[in-house]
Amino acid sequence: MKAFAVALQRLAPQPDDLFLEIGCGGGYFLRMIQPMVAKAAAIDHSPEMVELARQSNQEAVAAGRAEILQGDAERLPWPDNSFTCTANTAMWFFLPRPGNVLAELYRVLKPGGRLVIATIRRSWLNRIVWAPYGLRLYTNQQMEEMLSQCGFREIRVSAPGFMGQIAMARKPSGQA
Ligand SMILES: C[S@@+](CC[C@H](N)C(=O)[O-])C[C@H]1O[C@@H](n2cnc3c(N)ncnc32)[C@H](O)[C@@H]1O
Repeated sequence: MKAFAVALQRLAPQPDDLFLEIGCGGGYFLRMIQPMVAKAAAIDHSPEMVELARQSNQEAVAAGRAEILQGDAERLPWPDNSFTCTANTAMWFFLPRPGNVLAELYRVLKPGGRLVIATIRRSWLNRIVWAPYGLRLYTNQQMEEMLSQCGFREIRVSAPGFMGQIAMARKPSGQA
């Protein structure tokens, strides 16, 4: 899947990374990234998706290299400064309060931690195509502002292809 490849490339996972995914669905992105990092965690609010994600990451979960929990991305069940990087794919447009989720991601990221969001960009075409589904889409500028307001820095938002939008940002190094 192209969004996975782009998100992976932008995140550039390292062997000592502690990775978090929100809205992991069936856990297929987690399965790709998990062997590349020291430890991986994921959360989804759907119990069915959590079950599927645990099945598709069975070995890593059994070995304690992956943790998959059920819950809302607005209330992450991990302490402050738990992760070195986080990514999410094809879920940002579902969030009614993305600022709350960004605040949580900021909280659980260590100083210098990286964030990648792979979603659908707001454009006249995407509004026509996706409006019936009620998806929340943002222009690149809106996405940049949202990230900046939540304290993220080194923000880069680009729009690969017709639909895609990929946002990268970092929690400042000096911030606990
Ligand atoms: C379209 S699926 C994408 C799954 C996966 N990220 C992928 O790209 O294949 C969106 C997922 O986000 C989850 N989700 C949506 N809002 C959420 C929230 N507030 N907290 C946790 N999970 C959420 C849904 O349950 C669903 O599994």
